[in-house]
Parts: sequence; structure tokens; C-alpha cells
Amino acid sequence: MSDQASQKQWGGRFTEPTHELMERINASIFFDRRLYAQDIRASQAHAAMLARQGILSLDDAVAIIQGLDQVKQEIEAGEIKWRVSLEDIHTHVEARLRELIGEAAGRLHTARSRNDQVATDLRLWVMQACRDLDQALLEYQRALVELGQAHVGAIMPGYTHLQRAQPILFAHHLLAYVEMAWRDRERLADCYRRTAVLPLGAAALAGTTHPIDPFAVAQDLGFSGGACGNSLDAVSDRDFAAELLFVLALCQVHLSRLAEELVLWSTSEFGFIRLSDAFTTGSSIMPQKKNPDAAELIRGKTGRVLGDLVALLTVLKGLPLAYNKDLQEDKEPVFDAVQTVLDCLRVLAPMLAGATVREEAMAQAVKEGFLNATELADYLAAKGVPFRQAHEIAGRAVRLAEQSGRTLEELTLDEYKSLSSVIEQDVFPVLEAEHAIDRRISPGGTAGENVRAALNLARKRLWPES
Ligand code: ARG
Repeated sequence: MSDQASQKQWGGRFTEPTHELMERINASIFFDRRLYAQDIRASQAHAAMLARQGILSLDDAVAIIQGLDQVKQEIEAGEIKWRVSLEDIHTHVEARLRELIGEAAGRLHTARSRNDQVATDLRLWVMQACRDLDQALLEYQRALVELGQAHVGAIMPGYTHLQRAQPILFAHHLLAYVEMAWRDRERLADCYRRTAVLPLGAAALAGTTHPIDPFAVAQDLGFSGGACGNSLDAVSDRDFAAELLFVLALCQVHLSRLAEELVLWSTSEFGFIRLSDAFTTGSSIMPQKKNPDAAELIRGKTGRVLGDLVALLTVLKGLPLAYNKDLQEDKEPVFDAVQTVLDCLRVLAPMLAGATVREEAMAQAVKEGFLNATELADYLAAKGVPFRQAHEIAGRAVRLAEQSGRTLEELTLDEYKSLSSVIEQDVFPVLEAEHAIDRRISPGGTAGENVRAALNLARKRLWPES
């Protein structure tokens, strides 16, 4: 056996060294070292279980568990030298453990394989990621609610086809994103539930002859769903990772929609908000520019998160049971998507908090767009004019106002009378945007009382302790 082959966990039957290029393509250490804490924690739980089951002596178990603590400290202190020849995090941890405690280290791998080990590590990592993402989503929701609360009276145009449609409350608009985030959080919780099932004990693929107790390990490690029901599925299932990536893809799509609105709203054309200097950049050539880079990056990073989902699904497609090395390609998309979405959520919260809302510009846009044309039509319909005809009359009023550069509320009663004799002085209050908003009391509508109730409810849910 060559020296190089002997360092490997599987060196026994090999006589020739691994090709240098094979080592490069085979090694996952430069990305899977992120799993070190999960790998060590799971190994400690495994060793403790082996000892309880009488498979490992108490002395060996203690040496292993304490040795692993030290390996962890060394990794955190940056003292471990990562080597491609040692392939992955599992081999690195065990190799260092052997240096520290000697031959007892070799007993840790009893009744397991790297196949169930890596699946366990990744699940533990995803479980933590779900918790971190949930917290980041919560803080993002809080930022939206705070901004809405701070501008609870602000009126803006609601859009369809990006054309000014009807007046709405700015807070109502922000609360739409809070709803999306609730759904993202529900999906995360659901993904967590299916992730928290322990694969350890499946060993390479078929289970093990040793009298193990995976349920105790599951409990020890916080796998609330117990242990996997089928060893082949346990080592080859990455549904939990694919689910997480879908949840993240959709979440990032939501963020990109808000980001796009922030980009639009901060243009001189809209002028609804001003983003703070902290989240914008200038131009090296055009001194007047203030570019919404953070929002653009959030929009742009959606591409990589969607790519991560497609990458993993493509890895899984057509894979025969059980473990295949293709599965090593599961990690980078997961790490990348989690980091990207966390970063974007964490940027959005302070970015929203630091944005200046230009209520006058929004109100002005509401005035200019004939957003009260629907109110006029509804007013006529309420006076008995068939809606089709009411729509036609309101349309003529818009044309009249537009031709003379005025708003609907600036037309005179005489002009209205010339369009329809049923129109009286009481049309003018109806044309007020506040009036249009406050009449939309249908559940989920933009009426002030609805929006204030929705903000209060969101407050209760998002700050339960206060
Ligand atoms: N680094 C490997 C992975 O991420 C660990 C499992 C290796 N298993 C094996 N049979 N070679 O998938």
C-alpha cells in the first residue's frame, strides 16, 4: 500500500496513488468543512449511543467524545490544515481524532458509513439554516410593519399593469409583502419537519448488524421526526434539501419583487422614496447619480437562487438507489442559496428602516392619475345609472378634465350636470382619495380601519412578548 493511499479511509485494497486531478474533483473539503460542527456533534451522539448499547467501551467513548471537542476547538482556532487528499470533512475530523487519541478513533465508525453520516450532517445544517432564515424573515417582516406604521396615513396609487389604478394606503402595500413572508415562514417550518428525521444507522445502504438505537440518537440530536424508515432512502434522500431550495427560490422571488418596487420608487420618475446613502452608490462619472445597488443586487441574486434549485433537482434526476457520489454536489447549492437569502433579508430590514418615504409625492401621483374615476362611476351607479353607462359618463368626465389640464375634483358642478343630470354637489367628497380608500372595507381591503387592524394583528404576531 502506498503512503498516500494509506491515509484514506478506504486505502486497504488500493496499491496505486490517486491521480492528482482525481483528488481535485473528488475533494469536497473546501465547501463541506462548513459542516464541521454538525459532523462532530453527530459523531459524539453516535459514540455515546454505541457505548450505551455496549458496542463501544465507556473509556473509548469518553476518549472519542473529548477528542472530538478538541478537534472542534482546533478547527475554530484555524489550526487544522485542510488537505485535498483527505477528501472531506468526515475524513479530516477522524484523521485528526486518530492523531489525538490513537486507535480508539477507529472505533467511532462502527455501525455507520460516510453515506448516512453526510446525510445526517446536512440535515442538521439545514435544520439550523431553517431557524436562522425564520429569524431573518421575522426581522424583515418587522421592518415592513414598522415602516407601514410610521406612515399609516400615507396614500399612494395602487397599480395594475404598472398603470395607476386606484388609491391605496402605503401600509397596505407593505403588508402584502408581510403576507408573502408569512407563507415563506410556513413553508420553512414544513420543510424543517421533514428534515428532522435521522438517517444515521442506515450505514452504507442496507442497515447494520450492530444492535444500534437510532431513536435515542435522534432524540439526542433534536431530530423530532425520529429515524428514517428505509435505509436505502435514508442515504439517498435529498428531498429536504430540494424543498429548502424551493422555499428559498420562492422567497427570493418575493424579495426581488419588493426590490424592483424600491428601484422604481426611488427613481425621479416616481420619487416615492429616497434610499439612504448606506444602501446606494454613486457614479464615478455622473455626480448627480444615486444608484439603488442593494435593491438591484437583491433582484439580481434571484438568478443564482433559482439556479441552485435547478442544479440540485438536476443532480437528483435519474439517480439510481442508493448513495451515489453525485450527491456530493448537493451541498454548494444549499450553502449558496441559504447565504444569499439570509444576506438579502438582512440587508432589506435596515434598508427599509432607513428609507425616506415621500408622502407628498405619493399623494400627488394619486391626484394626477384620475384614480377616482371608479368612484365617479360607482357614485352614478348608486344613483340608479346602469354601471355600463356610468362607466361611459365617468370616461367622458376624465376626457373633459384631461383636455383642460384639470383633475376630476376640479370640474365644476355645471360641467358634471352637462354629463349627467343625476350628479349633485355631493359628488365632490366622493372624489376624495381618502374617501375612496375608506370605503374599501371588504375583508383584506385597503380601508384605513382594515389596515390599522392588520398592522395591530401583525404587531401581536411579530412582537408576541410586548
Ligand atoms: N463527501 C461525500 C459527500 O458529500 C461523503 C460521502 C462519501 N461516501 C462515499 N461512499 N464515498 O457525499
